Amino acid sequence: MDFAAELKRRVTRIEQGIDLLLPPAATPPARLHEAMRYSLQAGGKRLRPVLVLATFDLFDGLQPPEPRPLPAGTDPLPAAVAIECLHTYSLIHDDLPCMDNDDLRRGRPTAHRQFDEATALLAGDALLTHAFALLAGGYAARPSLAHALVRELADAAGSRRLIGGQMADLLAERKTGVSIEELEFIHLNKTAAMIEAALVMGGLTGGAGESELAMLRDAGRHLGLAFQIIDDVLDATADTATLGKTAGKDARAGKTTFVKLHGIANSRQLAQHHSDAARVALGRLPGDPAFLMTLIASMTARSS
Ligand code: IPE
Ligand code: IPE
Ligand code: MG
Ligand code: MG
Ligand code: MG
Repeated sequence: MDFAAELKRRVTRIEQGIDLLLPPAATPPARLHEAMRYSLQAGGKRLRPVLVLATFDLFDGLQPPEPRPLPAGTDPLPAAVAIECLHTYSLIHDDLPCMDNDDLRRGRPTAHRQFDEATALLAGDALLTHAFALLAGGYAARPSLAHALVRELADAAGSRRLIGGQMADLLAERKTGVSIEELEFIHLNKTAAMIEAALVMGGLTGGAGESELAMLRDAGRHLGLAFQIIDDVLDATADTATLGKTAGKDARAGKTTFVKLHGIANSRQLAQHHSDAARVALGRLPGDPAFLMTLIASMTARSS
């Protein structure tokens, strides 16, 4: 397998999907639709949508005696674009002055810097809403799949998970004596929830069964924890130009991070542990996991 080529193929498909499935920039009011596209089309690793497509492929590619014949018209692309819309909304809001107050995202001025705060807020709202419109519309021919996808994404993005994790992250700012359990709550929810959802949504579109979905969830939880630990490590060790977002801001804001609690070396070790655990969970699934295995390993070794 040529990992770089396989990754590029999927990222290209996602970028084309974004262009196709988002309202055109000229849609009135153009300023709002421009802002949505500005943040969504700024690049980024596209990890979550790549996970959707790659997990779909895991099940779609099964050979006899385990084939999962899928009804015609099942395409994981709307689900992949939906999760990237939702993720990008969370980044736009995360960067607002009332949250992390960041000036740079994906190598460009943040949405509120490029436009203004109200436009950034509304572009985030619109991307959040559009994610669910894509699921309802993209899977209208398969109502039970549409329902399962909407439910999965709503749970992952809701007040108990992504938004709850963001709230806990802010509440822990400048707090001393934050426990490892509290930190794990933050990581599990603000970040791992969406990564879990990406794997589960890929599994749902690919026809995974209940026990396979549980394994995907387990893998996603570990990958999500590894991913956020490395995000914290990079904030402390990498430079702004490489990251495409401001480096060193967690310490300045007094954020509760694994680096703050345990230092860089222990954080890297823990990330490796979770990355290995994610790969073990994936190894129990049917299908050829080679691409996903390498993708997970590359997320722990990444530099941005
Ligand atoms: C940033 O996510 C926010 C976290 C959950 C750590 P990514 O690192 O996936 O950001 P992009 O999508 O590549 O810009
Ligand atoms: C994750 O945390 C943010 C989410 C959007 C859920 P961070 O605040 O650490 O993300 P970055 O470092 O700004 O990308
Ligand atoms: Mg934040
Ligand atoms: Mg932030
Ligand atoms: Mg961060």
